[in-house]
Amino acid sequence: MGTMTISKRTKAVTGTIAVPGDKSMSHRAIMLAAISNGKSTIDNFLTGEDCLTTIVAFEAMGIKIERNESKVTVHGKGLYGLDESMQPINLGNSGTTTRLLLGILAGTPHHYCLYGDESLSVRPMDRVTIPLTKMGAAFDGNQHGRLLPMSVRGDNLQPIEYTLPINSAQIKSSILLAGLFTKGITKVIEPVPTRDHTERMFTAFGVDISRQGNTISLKGQQQLTATNLEVPGDISSAAFFICAAALKSESDLIIKDVGLNPTRTGIIDVLQRMGANIQTSITRYIGDEPIGEVFVKGGQLTGITISGNDIPRVIDEIPIIALIASQANGKTVIKHAEDLRYKETDRIQAVVDTLRNMGVDIKGTEDGMVINGKPSKLKGGEYHSYKDHRIGMMIAIASLLTNEDINLHEPDCISISYPSFFNHFDQLLED
Ligand code: S3P
Repeated sequence: MGTMTISKRTKAVTGTIAVPGDKSMSHRAIMLAAISNGKSTIDNFLTGEDCLTTIVAFEAMGIKIERNESKVTVHGKGLYGLDESMQPINLGNSGTTTRLLLGILAGTPHHYCLYGDESLSVRPMDRVTIPLTKMGAAFDGNQHGRLLPMSVRGDNLQPIEYTLPINSAQIKSSILLAGLFTKGITKVIEPVPTRDHTERMFTAFGVDISRQGNTISLKGQQQLTATNLEVPGDISSAAFFICAAALKSESDLIIKDVGLNPTRTGIIDVLQRMGANIQTSITRYIGDEPIGEVFVKGGQLTGITISGNDIPRVIDEIPIIALIASQANGKTVIKHAEDLRYKETDRIQAVVDTLRNMGVDIKGTEDGMVINGKPSKLKGGEYHSYKDHRIGMMIAIASLLTNEDINLHEPDCISISYPSFFNHFDQLLED
C-alpha cells in the first residue's frame, strides 16, 4: 500500500554488500527440516514475507519452529510427522511454498485446505497436481482443480517417471518431495536444467539422490536426518545492484557471500555477453552449494539474444535485464520465456508497459520481448509495482536513469524477497 518517492540518482553504484539469504533455499530448508528427524538450524534464513509464509504453514501442521532474526531452529517430526491442520492454510503470495508443499502433502495421509492472496489464486497449480494425481494424491480446487483455494487429500503414493512439460524447478521439486513418500524410484527428466537446490539440499539431509544426464532419480522411504544449514545470499536479489552497477561507468561494486550455484548464475553470463566488466570468485562451499563474491565495474553494454537454456537460469532476473537492455547499444531479444506470464504478475506485460511508459523502445511478444536499446534518459513519474517485488525493484533501479523522481506505488511487496532493499539502495547509490 502507499506510494514512495524515489529521488533520481545519477551517481555510480559503489561499495560492498551482502544480500539477504536465498529465497529458494530458505523455503527448502524449512520444508526439509520439518520432515526430517530431529532439530535443524538454519543460518541466514531470508526473513522476507514468502519464506515467513512457509514457516507459518509448517507451524500450522504442528512443527515447532523458533526464529531469532535470521537464525531459525526447526524441530522436525520425520516423514509422516505433519499434523492435519485445524484451519485452512494461508500461503499468501508464495508460489514456491504452494507448489513444493503440495508435493509433501500429496504423500501425507491427511486432508488440507490451502488458499492464498489474489495473485496466488490465479497462478496455475495443475502443473504440479497433474503429476501428483498420477502418483495417487487427490486434489480439488477452483477452475476444475487448477487454482487455489484447493483441498488436498494425501495417500499412499506410487513412484512415477515424469518429463517436465515446463522448465520449472518448482514442478521438479514437488515431484521429488512426493517421491520420498513412495515405495519405489521416482524419476524426473528435465529437458533443460533448472535450479537444483532441492537435489543439493537433499544430500545435506542425508538423502541419496542421483542424476544421470537430464534424469534425476530418487528412492522413496528414505529418512531425512536433521542438520545445520547456512543459506547463501540470493543472487536474484543481488542482480538488481549488479545490473545497476554495470550501467554506470564509475561503479565499483562487490557482493559478498552470495550463492554461485551454476543453475542460478545466468545473470553473470548474460552480463558478460553484453560486455559488462564482471567477475566472480568462489570462496567456500556450504554443503554442496558454492558461495563467493561478485565484482562489477560499470561500462558500455551491447544488446544480445537470451533464449533456450539461458531462460531457467535467468527467469527471475528478466525484469532487471530488460531495464539494462534499454541502455545497451542495439537489439536485445528475449524468447522462450512464456512462463513469465504466470509469475506474481504477468511479467512480460508488466515490464513492457512500465518500460514503454519510461520511454523505452520495447515490444512484447508471446514468449518474451524485444528491446531496441541505447544509452538514454528515462522518464520519471508515476509507476506501479503490480504488487510484484521484482517489478518494484526494477522501477527503483530505473531512478538511476531518470531526470525526474519516480513515484512507486505499492512498494511494500519488495519485502517479499528483499526486506533490506532500500537500505542497500541508499548505501550504494549515494548522491
Ligand atoms: C523457484 C523456481 C522458479 C522461480 C521462483 C523460485 C524455486 O519458478 O521463478 O522464483 O524456488 O524453485 P519456476 O519453477 O516456476 O520456474
